[in-house]
Amino acid sequence: MNNIHTPAVDYRLPPDRVPETITENLTDVERTSLIDRISGLLKRENAVVVAHYYTDPDLQRLADETGGYVSDSLDMARFGNESEASTLVVCGVRFMGETAKILNPEKRVLMPDLEATCSLDIGCPADQFSAFCDQYPDRRVVVYANTSAAVKARADWMVTSGSAVDVVRHLQTQGEKLIWAPDMYLGDYVKTQTGADMVLWQGSCIVHEEFKGAELQALKQQHPDAMVLVHPESPASVIQHADLVGSTTAVINAVKEMAAKKFIVATDRGIFYKMRQAAPDKEFIEAPTAGKSATCKSCAHCPWMAMNSLDKLAHALEHGKNEIHVGMDIIERARVPIKRLLDFSRQENQEIYGNNDA
Ligand code: 13P
Ligand code: SF4
Repeated sequence: MNNIHTPAVDYRLPPDRVPETITENLTDVERTSLIDRISGLLKRENAVVVAHYYTDPDLQRLADETGGYVSDSLDMARFGNESEASTLVVCGVRFMGETAKILNPEKRVLMPDLEATCSLDIGCPADQFSAFCDQYPDRRVVVYANTSAAVKARADWMVTSGSAVDVVRHLQTQGEKLIWAPDMYLGDYVKTQTGADMVLWQGSCIVHEEFKGAELQALKQQHPDAMVLVHPESPASVIQHADLVGSTTAVINAVKEMAAKKFIVATDRGIFYKMRQAAPDKEFIEAPTAGKSATCKSCAHCPWMAMNSLDKLAHALEHGKNEIHVGMDIIERARVPIKRLLDFSRQENQEIYGNNDA
Protein backbone atom coordinates (compact mmCIF):
# COMPACT_ATOMS: atom_id res chain seq x y z
CA MET A 1 0.00 0.00 0.00
CA ASN A 2 1.14 3.51 -0.81
CA ASN A 3 1.82 5.21 2.51
CA ILE A 4 2.68 8.75 1.39
CA HIS A 5 -0.53 10.19 2.81
CA THR A 6 -1.58 7.45 5.18
CA PRO A 7 -2.19 8.58 8.77
CA ALA A 8 -1.17 6.20 11.57
CA VAL A 9 -4.54 5.36 13.16
CA ASP A 10 -6.05 2.06 12.03
CA TYR A 11 -9.87 2.17 12.02
CA ARG A 12 -10.38 -1.42 10.91
CA LEU A 13 -12.94 -3.31 12.97
CA PRO A 14 -11.46 -5.90 15.36
CA PRO A 15 -12.83 -9.41 14.66
CA ASP A 16 -14.48 -9.62 18.12
CA ARG A 17 -16.80 -6.77 17.14
CA VAL A 18 -18.09 -8.65 14.12
CA PRO A 19 -21.40 -10.46 14.80
CA GLU A 20 -21.91 -14.12 13.94
CA THR A 21 -23.53 -14.68 10.56
CA ILE A 22 -27.04 -16.06 11.17
CA THR A 23 -29.21 -17.11 8.27
CA GLU A 24 -32.95 -17.74 8.29
CA ASN A 25 -33.93 -21.41 7.93
CA LEU A 26 -37.50 -21.75 6.73
CA THR A 27 -39.49 -24.72 5.50
CA ASP A 28 -41.17 -24.28 2.11
CA VAL A 29 -44.55 -23.92 3.84
CA GLU A 30 -43.24 -21.22 6.20
CA ARG A 31 -41.58 -19.36 3.32
CA THR A 32 -44.72 -19.38 1.17
CA SER A 33 -46.91 -18.27 4.04
CA LEU A 34 -44.52 -15.41 4.96
CA ILE A 35 -44.30 -14.22 1.34
CA ASP A 36 -48.13 -14.21 1.07
CA ARG A 37 -48.37 -12.26 4.31
CA ILE A 38 -45.74 -9.73 3.20
CA SER A 39 -47.39 -9.27 -0.21
CA GLY A 40 -50.65 -8.36 1.53
CA LEU A 41 -48.86 -5.97 3.91
CA LEU A 42 -47.02 -4.26 1.05
CA LYS A 43 -50.36 -3.46 -0.59
CA ARG A 44 -51.94 -2.37 2.69
CA GLU A 45 -49.06 -0.01 3.48
CA ASN A 46 -48.46 1.24 -0.10
CA ALA A 47 -44.93 -0.08 0.37
CA VAL A 48 -42.21 -1.46 -1.85
CA VAL A 49 -39.16 -3.64 -1.11
CA VAL A 50 -35.76 -2.33 -2.20
CA ALA A 51 -33.04 -4.94 -1.69
CA HIS A 52 -29.28 -5.12 -2.13
CA TYR A 53 -27.62 -7.91 -4.15
CA TYR A 54 -25.98 -9.29 -0.98
CA THR A 55 -29.24 -10.06 0.80
CA ASP A 56 -30.79 -13.52 0.99
CA PRO A 57 -32.20 -14.83 -2.32
CA ASP A 58 -35.65 -15.04 -0.67
CA LEU A 59 -35.62 -11.27 -0.19
CA GLN A 60 -34.30 -10.58 -3.68
CA ARG A 61 -37.02 -12.85 -5.14
CA LEU A 62 -39.66 -11.12 -3.03
CA ALA A 63 -38.53 -7.69 -4.28
CA ASP A 64 -38.55 -8.88 -7.89
CA GLU A 65 -41.96 -10.50 -7.61
CA THR A 66 -43.76 -7.67 -5.80
CA GLY A 67 -42.75 -4.73 -8.01
CA GLY A 68 -39.73 -3.83 -5.89
CA TYR A 69 -36.09 -3.59 -6.89
CA VAL A 70 -32.74 -5.31 -6.39
CA SER A 71 -29.56 -3.40 -7.10
CA ASP A 72 -26.48 -1.64 -5.75
CA SER A 73 -26.55 0.94 -3.00
CA LEU A 74 -26.97 4.13 -5.01
CA ASP A 75 -29.42 2.66 -7.47
CA MET A 76 -31.56 1.44 -4.56
CA ALA A 77 -31.85 5.08 -3.48
CA ARG A 78 -32.64 6.25 -7.00
CA PHE A 79 -35.42 3.65 -7.30
CA GLY A 80 -36.88 4.75 -3.97
CA ASN A 81 -36.89 8.31 -5.24
CA GLU A 82 -38.80 7.38 -8.40
CA SER A 83 -41.21 4.91 -6.83
CA GLU A 84 -44.74 6.08 -6.06
CA ALA A 85 -44.84 4.01 -2.89
CA SER A 86 -45.07 6.03 0.32
CA THR A 87 -43.09 3.44 2.34
CA LEU A 88 -39.73 2.01 1.29
CA VAL A 89 -38.65 -1.23 2.96
CA VAL A 90 -34.89 -1.21 2.55
CA CYS A 91 -33.29 -4.66 2.81
CA GLY A 92 -29.59 -4.01 3.13
CA VAL A 93 -27.53 -2.14 5.68
CA ARG A 94 -28.23 1.01 7.62
CA PHE A 95 -26.40 3.50 5.40
CA MET A 96 -28.63 2.36 2.53
CA GLY A 97 -31.73 3.11 4.58
CA GLU A 98 -30.28 6.49 5.51
CA THR A 99 -29.41 7.35 1.92
CA ALA A 100 -32.97 6.43 0.88
CA LYS A 101 -34.29 8.73 3.62
CA ILE A 102 -31.95 11.60 2.65
CA LEU A 103 -33.17 11.46 -0.95
CA ASN A 104 -36.81 10.85 0.06
CA PRO A 105 -37.43 12.71 3.32
CA GLU A 106 -41.19 12.68 2.78
CA LYS A 107 -41.30 8.87 2.60
CA ARG A 108 -41.31 6.40 5.47
CA VAL A 109 -38.22 4.18 5.31
CA LEU A 110 -38.33 0.88 7.23
CA MET A 111 -35.68 -1.81 7.58
CA PRO A 112 -36.01 -5.43 8.73
CA ASP A 113 -33.25 -4.87 11.32
CA LEU A 114 -31.78 -1.53 12.36
CA GLU A 115 -28.71 -3.31 13.78
CA ALA A 116 -27.69 -4.24 10.22
CA THR A 117 -24.74 -1.95 9.65
CA CYS A 118 -21.34 -2.05 7.94
CA SER A 119 -17.76 -2.26 9.19
CA LEU A 120 -16.88 0.79 7.09
CA ASP A 121 -19.66 2.82 8.69
CA ILE A 122 -18.81 1.67 12.25
CA GLY A 123 -15.12 2.35 11.63
CA CYS A 124 -15.74 5.99 10.69
CA PRO A 125 -17.45 7.78 13.60
CA ALA A 126 -18.62 11.25 12.58
CA ASP A 127 -16.88 13.14 15.39
CA GLN A 128 -13.49 11.51 14.78
CA PHE A 129 -13.87 11.93 11.04
CA SER A 130 -14.71 15.59 11.40
CA ALA A 131 -11.61 16.14 13.58
CA PHE A 132 -9.54 14.29 10.96
CA CYS A 133 -10.89 16.56 8.20
CA ASP A 134 -10.09 19.63 10.30
CA GLN A 135 -6.40 18.66 10.11
CA TYR A 136 -6.45 19.11 6.30
CA PRO A 137 -8.45 22.28 5.63
CA ASP A 138 -7.04 22.66 2.10
CA ARG A 139 -8.40 19.26 0.95
CA ARG A 140 -11.79 18.39 -0.54
CA VAL A 141 -13.60 15.61 1.34
CA VAL A 142 -14.69 12.58 -0.69
CA VAL A 143 -16.61 9.82 1.12
CA TYR A 144 -17.80 6.44 -0.02
CA ALA A 145 -21.53 5.66 0.09
CA ASN A 146 -20.84 3.22 2.98
CA THR A 147 -20.88 5.94 5.64
CA SER A 148 -23.41 7.38 8.06
CA ALA A 149 -25.60 10.35 7.17
CA ALA A 150 -23.55 12.44 9.64
CA VAL A 151 -20.28 11.60 7.84
CA LYS A 152 -21.84 12.45 4.48
CA ALA A 153 -22.94 15.76 6.00
CA ARG A 154 -19.21 16.57 6.55
CA ALA A 155 -18.28 15.69 2.94
CA ASP A 156 -18.01 17.61 -0.33
CA TRP A 157 -18.61 14.56 -2.52
CA MET A 158 -20.09 11.12 -2.11
CA VAL A 159 -18.97 8.36 -4.50
CA THR A 160 -19.80 4.71 -5.10
CA SER A 161 -17.39 1.98 -6.15
CA GLY A 162 -18.59 2.39 -9.74
CA SER A 163 -18.04 6.16 -9.85
CA ALA A 164 -15.05 6.76 -7.54
CA VAL A 165 -12.29 6.73 -10.18
CA ASP A 166 -14.16 9.13 -12.49
CA VAL A 167 -15.05 11.59 -9.72
CA VAL A 168 -11.52 11.62 -8.31
CA ARG A 169 -10.04 12.08 -11.79
CA HIS A 170 -12.43 15.01 -12.31
CA LEU A 171 -11.37 16.63 -9.01
CA GLN A 172 -7.72 15.99 -9.81
CA THR A 173 -8.00 17.85 -13.12
CA GLN A 174 -9.30 20.81 -11.11
CA GLY A 175 -6.09 20.67 -9.04
CA GLU A 176 -7.87 19.46 -5.89
CA LYS A 177 -6.09 17.54 -3.13
CA LEU A 178 -8.37 15.08 -1.36
CA ILE A 179 -9.34 13.39 1.86
CA TRP A 180 -10.74 9.93 1.18
CA ALA A 181 -12.83 7.84 3.61
CA PRO A 182 -13.47 5.28 4.87
CA ASP A 183 -12.24 2.28 2.81
CA MET A 184 -8.45 2.32 2.60
CA TYR A 185 -8.35 -0.47 -0.01
CA LEU A 186 -10.79 1.25 -2.35
CA GLY A 187 -8.94 4.52 -1.66
CA ASP A 188 -5.64 2.86 -2.53
CA TYR A 189 -7.13 1.45 -5.73
CA VAL A 190 -8.50 4.86 -6.76
CA LYS A 191 -5.16 6.49 -5.95
CA THR A 192 -3.32 3.93 -8.06
CA GLN A 193 -5.71 4.43 -10.98
CA THR A 194 -5.64 8.23 -10.91
CA GLY A 195 -2.38 9.26 -9.22
CA ALA A 196 -4.44 11.77 -7.18
CA ASP A 197 -3.10 13.33 -3.98
CA MET A 198 -5.25 11.60 -1.34
CA VAL A 199 -5.09 11.24 2.43
CA LEU A 200 -6.70 7.89 3.25
CA TRP A 201 -8.84 7.08 6.29
CA GLN A 202 -7.84 3.59 7.46
CA GLY A 203 -11.14 1.67 7.44
CA SER A 204 -11.98 -1.60 5.70
CA CYS A 205 -14.77 -3.99 4.77
CA ILE A 206 -14.48 -7.14 6.87
CA VAL A 207 -15.83 -9.25 4.01
CA HIS A 208 -13.59 -8.11 1.14
CA GLU A 209 -10.52 -7.74 3.34
CA GLU A 210 -10.55 -11.53 3.83
CA PHE A 211 -9.93 -12.45 0.20
CA LYS A 212 -6.40 -13.78 -0.21
CA GLY A 213 -4.09 -12.92 -3.10
CA ALA A 214 -1.75 -15.95 -3.00
CA GLU A 215 -4.65 -18.43 -2.71
CA LEU A 216 -6.48 -16.65 -5.52
CA GLN A 217 -3.44 -16.98 -7.74
CA ALA A 218 -3.30 -20.74 -6.99
CA LEU A 219 -7.04 -21.11 -7.73
CA LYS A 220 -6.57 -19.24 -11.00
CA GLN A 221 -3.89 -21.74 -12.00
CA GLN A 222 -6.36 -24.59 -11.36
CA HIS A 223 -8.94 -22.83 -13.57
CA PRO A 224 -6.96 -21.11 -16.33
CA ASP A 225 -10.15 -20.61 -18.37
CA ALA A 226 -11.86 -18.61 -15.59
CA MET A 227 -12.12 -14.82 -15.51
CA VAL A 228 -11.48 -13.22 -12.12
CA LEU A 229 -13.98 -10.56 -11.01
CA VAL A 230 -13.02 -8.46 -7.97
CA HIS A 231 -14.85 -5.76 -6.00
CA PRO A 232 -12.45 -2.86 -5.30
CA GLU A 233 -13.01 -3.05 -1.53
CA SER A 234 -10.53 -5.96 -1.73
CA PRO A 235 -6.80 -5.58 -0.94
CA ALA A 236 -4.34 -4.72 -3.74
CA SER A 237 -2.85 -8.25 -3.45
CA VAL A 238 -6.24 -9.58 -4.65
CA ILE A 239 -6.99 -6.82 -7.17
CA GLN A 240 -3.69 -7.54 -8.97
CA HIS A 241 -5.10 -10.91 -10.13
CA ALA A 242 -8.37 -9.45 -11.45
CA ASP A 243 -9.52 -9.52 -15.06
CA LEU A 244 -12.19 -7.00 -14.06
CA VAL A 245 -12.40 -4.73 -11.02
CA GLY A 246 -15.87 -3.31 -10.48
CA SER A 247 -18.93 -2.54 -8.40
CA THR A 248 -21.62 -5.12 -7.67
CA THR A 249 -23.53 -4.05 -10.77
CA ALA A 250 -20.37 -4.12 -12.91
CA VAL A 251 -19.47 -7.68 -11.93
CA ILE A 252 -23.02 -8.90 -12.66
CA ASN A 253 -22.92 -7.19 -16.04
CA ALA A 254 -19.53 -8.80 -16.70
CA VAL A 255 -20.85 -12.35 -16.41
CA LYS A 256 -23.46 -11.51 -19.06
CA GLU A 257 -21.08 -9.69 -21.38
CA MET A 258 -17.82 -11.66 -21.15
CA ALA A 259 -17.49 -14.70 -23.37
CA ALA A 260 -15.92 -16.81 -20.59
CA LYS A 261 -17.95 -19.70 -19.19
CA LYS A 262 -16.33 -19.69 -15.76
CA PHE A 263 -15.77 -16.90 -13.20
CA ILE A 264 -13.91 -16.65 -9.91
CA VAL A 265 -15.72 -13.97 -7.90
CA ALA A 266 -14.24 -11.90 -5.05
CA THR A 267 -17.26 -10.27 -3.45
CA ASP A 268 -20.12 -11.27 -1.10
CA ARG A 269 -21.61 -14.59 -2.15
CA GLY A 270 -25.14 -13.11 -2.07
CA ILE A 271 -24.34 -11.83 -5.55
CA PHE A 272 -24.42 -15.36 -7.00
CA TYR A 273 -28.23 -15.30 -7.00
CA LYS A 274 -28.34 -12.50 -9.63
CA MET A 275 -25.29 -13.85 -11.44
CA ARG A 276 -26.99 -17.23 -11.93
CA GLN A 277 -30.08 -15.47 -13.26
CA ALA A 278 -27.93 -13.33 -15.55
CA ALA A 279 -25.92 -16.25 -16.95
CA PRO A 280 -27.57 -19.60 -16.08
CA ASP A 281 -25.20 -21.61 -18.27
CA LYS A 282 -22.04 -20.28 -16.60
CA GLU A 283 -20.05 -21.48 -13.58
CA PHE A 284 -19.20 -19.31 -10.57
CA ILE A 285 -16.49 -20.04 -8.01
CA GLU A 286 -15.99 -18.15 -4.73
CA ALA A 287 -12.59 -16.50 -4.41
CA PRO A 288 -10.64 -17.92 -1.44
CA THR A 289 -10.78 -16.32 2.02
CA ALA A 290 -8.96 -17.25 5.21
CA GLY A 291 -11.55 -20.00 5.76
CA LYS A 292 -12.15 -21.04 9.34
CA SER A 293 -8.65 -20.09 10.40
CA ALA A 294 -7.17 -16.67 11.14
CA THR A 295 -9.60 -13.82 11.75
CA CYS A 296 -12.23 -14.62 9.17
CA LYS A 297 -15.68 -14.25 10.71
CA SER A 298 -17.34 -13.19 7.55
CA CYS A 299 -16.04 -15.46 4.85
CA ALA A 300 -17.54 -13.99 1.70
CA HIS A 301 -20.82 -13.19 3.41
CA CYS A 302 -21.60 -9.97 5.22
CA PRO A 303 -23.02 -10.72 8.69
CA TRP A 304 -24.98 -7.46 8.68
CA MET A 305 -26.58 -8.12 5.30
CA ALA A 306 -27.54 -11.55 6.70
CA MET A 307 -29.58 -9.84 9.46
CA ASN A 308 -32.27 -9.12 6.87
CA SER A 309 -34.91 -11.86 6.80
CA LEU A 310 -38.48 -12.43 5.61
CA ASP A 311 -39.65 -12.84 9.18
CA LYS A 312 -38.15 -9.53 10.37
CA LEU A 313 -39.39 -7.76 7.26
CA ALA A 314 -42.96 -8.95 7.92
CA HIS A 315 -42.71 -7.78 11.53
CA ALA A 316 -41.38 -4.32 10.60
CA LEU A 317 -44.09 -3.81 8.01
CA GLU A 318 -46.95 -5.15 10.12
CA HIS A 319 -46.12 -2.96 13.12
CA GLY A 320 -44.40 0.01 11.45
CA LYS A 321 -41.19 -0.84 13.34
CA ASN A 322 -37.57 -0.08 12.54
CA GLU A 323 -38.14 3.27 10.88
CA ILE A 324 -35.08 5.24 9.76
CA HIS A 325 -35.01 8.78 11.14
CA VAL A 326 -32.46 11.37 10.06
CA GLY A 327 -32.58 14.96 11.37
CA MET A 328 -33.52 17.62 8.78
CA ASP A 329 -30.26 19.54 9.32
CA ILE A 330 -28.23 16.39 8.52
CA ILE A 331 -30.51 15.56 5.57
CA GLU A 332 -29.93 18.98 4.06
CA ARG A 333 -26.15 18.81 4.41
CA ALA A 334 -25.80 15.13 3.46
CA ARG A 335 -27.90 15.64 0.34
CA VAL A 336 -25.26 18.02 -1.10
CA PRO A 337 -22.48 15.44 -1.71
CA ILE A 338 -25.01 12.85 -2.92
CA LYS A 339 -26.59 15.27 -5.39
CA ARG A 340 -23.13 16.29 -6.62
CA LEU A 341 -22.53 12.69 -7.65
CA LEU A 342 -25.93 12.42 -9.33
CA ASP A 343 -25.38 15.68 -11.25
CA PHE A 344 -21.84 14.68 -12.21
CA SER A 345 -22.99 11.37 -13.60
CA ARG A 346 -25.75 13.04 -15.58
CA GLN A 347 -23.31 15.59 -17.06
CA GLU A 348 -20.76 12.95 -17.88
CA ASN A 349 -23.52 10.78 -19.26
CA GLN A 350 -22.00 8.13 -17.09
CA GLU A 351 -23.76 4.90 -16.22
CA ILE A 352 -23.41 4.72 -12.43
CA TYR A 353 -26.64 2.90 -11.81
CA GLY A 354 -27.27 -0.79 -11.60
CA ASN A 355 -30.04 -2.56 -13.37
CA ASN A 356 -32.70 -4.99 -12.48
CA ASP A 357 -32.88 -6.93 -15.67
CA ALA A 358 -30.55 -9.76 -14.75
P1 13P B 1 -22.25 -1.45 -4.12
O1 13P B 1 -22.57 -0.01 -3.96
O2 13P B 1 -21.34 -1.76 -5.27
O3 13P B 1 -23.52 -2.24 -4.18
O4 13P B 1 -21.45 -1.95 -2.83
C1 13P B 1 -21.97 -1.85 -1.57
C2 13P B 1 -21.24 -2.68 -0.62
O5 13P B 1 -21.51 -2.67 0.56
C3 13P B 1 -20.13 -3.51 -1.13
O6 13P B 1 -19.60 -4.25 -0.09
FE1 SF4 C 1 -20.11 -3.08 4.60
FE2 SF4 C 1 -18.54 -4.95 3.62
FE3 SF4 C 1 -20.97 -5.57 4.48
FE4 SF4 C 1 -20.62 -4.14 2.19
S1 SF4 C 1 -20.00 -6.25 2.58
S2 SF4 C 1 -22.10 -3.76 3.83
S3 SF4 C 1 -18.84 -2.91 2.75
S4 SF4 C 1 -19.28 -4.81 5.74
